Amino acid sequence: MDHRSSGYHETYAAWRRDPEGFWAERAGAIDWFAPWDRVFDPAQGVYGRWFVGATCNTCHNALDRHVAAGRGDQPAIIHDSPVTGSKRTVSYRELHEEVQALAAVLRDLGVAKGDRVMIYMPMVPEAVIAMLATARLGAIHSVVFGGFAGIELATRIDDCHPKVIVTASCGIEPSRVVEYMPLIAHGLEEAQFAPEHCIVLQRPEHVCAPVEGRDIDYREAVDAHKNAGTVVDCVPVAATDPLYILYTSGTTGQPKGVVRDNGGHMVALAWSMDAIYDIRPGEVFWTASDVGWVVGHSYIVYAPLLHGATTLMFEGKPVGTPDAGVFWRVIEEHRVAALFTAPTAFRAIKKEDPKGALVGDYDLSSLRTLFLAGERADPDTIEWAQRTLDVPVIDHWWQTETGWAIAGNPVGLGRLPVKIGSPTVPMPGYDLQVLDDEGHRVPAGTLGNIVIKLPLPPSCLPTLWNADERFRAAYLDEFAGYYKTADAGYVDEDGYVFIMARTDDIISVAGHRLSTGGMEEVIGRHPDVAECAVIGIADPLKGQVPAGFVIVNSGVDRDAAEIESEVVRLVREEIGPVAAFKIAVTVNRLPKTRSGKILRGVMQKIADGAPWKMPATIDDPAILEEIGEALRARGIGAFARQTA
Ligand code: COA
Ligand code: AMP
Repeated sequence: MDHRSSGYHETYAAWRRDPEGFWAERAGAIDWFAPWDRVFDPAQGVYGRWFVGATCNTCHNALDRHVAAGRGDQPAIIHDSPVTGSKRTVSYRELHEEVQALAAVLRDLGVAKGDRVMIYMPMVPEAVIAMLATARLGAIHSVVFGGFAGIELATRIDDCHPKVIVTASCGIEPSRVVEYMPLIAHGLEEAQFAPEHCIVLQRPEHVCAPVEGRDIDYREAVDAHKNAGTVVDCVPVAATDPLYILYTSGTTGQPKGVVRDNGGHMVALAWSMDAIYDIRPGEVFWTASDVGWVVGHSYIVYAPLLHGATTLMFEGKPVGTPDAGVFWRVIEEHRVAALFTAPTAFRAIKKEDPKGALVGDYDLSSLRTLFLAGERADPDTIEWAQRTLDVPVIDHWWQTETGWAIAGNPVGLGRLPVKIGSPTVPMPGYDLQVLDDEGHRVPAGTLGNIVIKLPLPPSCLPTLWNADERFRAAYLDEFAGYYKTADAGYVDEDGYVFIMARTDDIISVAGHRLSTGGMEEVIGRHPDVAECAVIGIADPLKGQVPAGFVIVNSGVDRDAAEIESEVVRLVREEIGPVAAFKIAVTVNRLPKTRSGKILRGVMQKIADGAPWKMPATIDDPAILEEIGEALRARGIGAFARQTA
């Protein structure tokens, strides 16, 4: 393969030669209030910290400096909302004013540096405003995705103790208006900790009744400060202070509070806009995700704004709002330069419009690149997108924990040849290796555990919120000196990375990261359930969907279908609709090893219709037959076959 036209190898080698020099140079793109004493200090934190001694403010870098540099009239956010039939553009100047006003409201409520603010909002500009207002005060935000329900809210509230929750009266799904207040009430009822106030953005689609003494009307409070011209300066924070906590699924129902710092995060993200996404300040960058996910934090909010680009916020779906041409309409109308989404969005479009006929109705000449991440990009989808849009389709691989791509194809440095099925090569900053279970490096082409040699680059999590030990145990202890990604895969002879599977209980449902263990914990709370196992099974649209196997307590003689539908409802109510948990199957026994471990992997293969082998350690082989039967009765795994 000819890699010579790309600056990637040179850049990666420059980072290898002098990692600190490399990142110090990239840090030049950021305004610092005080410079760092050390670019990287290995003695600080769990594995070291970036830009130690420096002070800065992320909101200043995302807003104030752009206004000062003459970008005030440029759109910062374009909100395009087919679900409400509205469009709105917010310039950098307007955003700056609104953020200051909301920061003043938060300050009035006692929010100060280091305090936590929870943000539970739909895809409206006020979600971004709340994030930036929190950052302006040096406080720490924790955004919770709107598709999560009460229990997920409660565990997060109890973990980070937010002083204030910023929320809206409702979110809008194509099929329904999602009222947030009952979800918040459920979350607060379940939580031990009680935030003092909620700032509520009333939306015309549903106006909620405020709780006396607790709720503050967003619009009234913000407008009061806007009219008064209240000035709120950016509070200097240490580069190593947290900017946000973003909870992500762990191997239990207790989500992990991934911590992101201020300094390193800005440096890596600002650089990625050039090097990976090839976007220039002033261009329109569209990430079709949600601010509740890391992809949204990094590439709807922080990276485009740090870079002085225009971010497009889309409140809609790839299909059904109103049709499978909506992405093309948005690209044409707003002159989008690059689109970033999950493969599942393209599978949804392809299903509705297999020939891509709707593309012909729009002018997509502004679009240079399509970026995909969040789940494995299947070759069919990549090839379809390439054919239909006639632009390069770039898969890249990353995690909530890293905040930016671990492996990708850096378009700004010069695109490398694409190998379909591979997110291409490790980005500078990441010394990616593949180890066997004993921690030895494996040869090219051999499947193993993908790990990153410490230290992690800027932007990656320095720890979990208030949980250094959990951070070590979850990520660092298994392979000494390395961060465990919990993804399995291989690197080929050309250095291309292939991500094949998770090594833990995480599944990806429509690009959303969910823990099957978390679902098992919820199902286990049903009074009639004795035991259960949840697995992710292949789904042509969502990539994976969860399926739960349930054993009912002895002596319970209720209708199995009734219990199954209660279990489905329980997961929806406690975790949220986003879990897409719709398959519950009652069985008499679960397949286990002789030591009592449930054989989820084999069950998954049976459900997926993939070849499977009888595990040598199985306690009773007949149980797998029973599982296959139960699935076949539901039309799942009809072609499952056992290999010798
Ligand atoms: N608030 C409340 N409910 C939400 C929600 C939100 N913010 N987001 C999703 N839900 C609900 C949906 O309405 C759906 O409910 P239902 O069971 O009543 O139908 C359920 O959660 C599952 O949602 P989703 O997985 O998004 O499925 P979908 O059928 O609504 O849409 C896709 C499928 C593929 C079109 C959609 O997932 C999508 O656009 N994905 C794009 C990429 C993306 O967002 N990736 C995230 C990380 S990059
Ligand atoms: P999240 O933390 O939600 O971003 O999910 C991270 C996980 O999603 C990774 O550990 C992978 O398992 C999966 N993932 C993300 N991007 C990709 C990709 N491009 N290819 C394969 N898997 C991916």
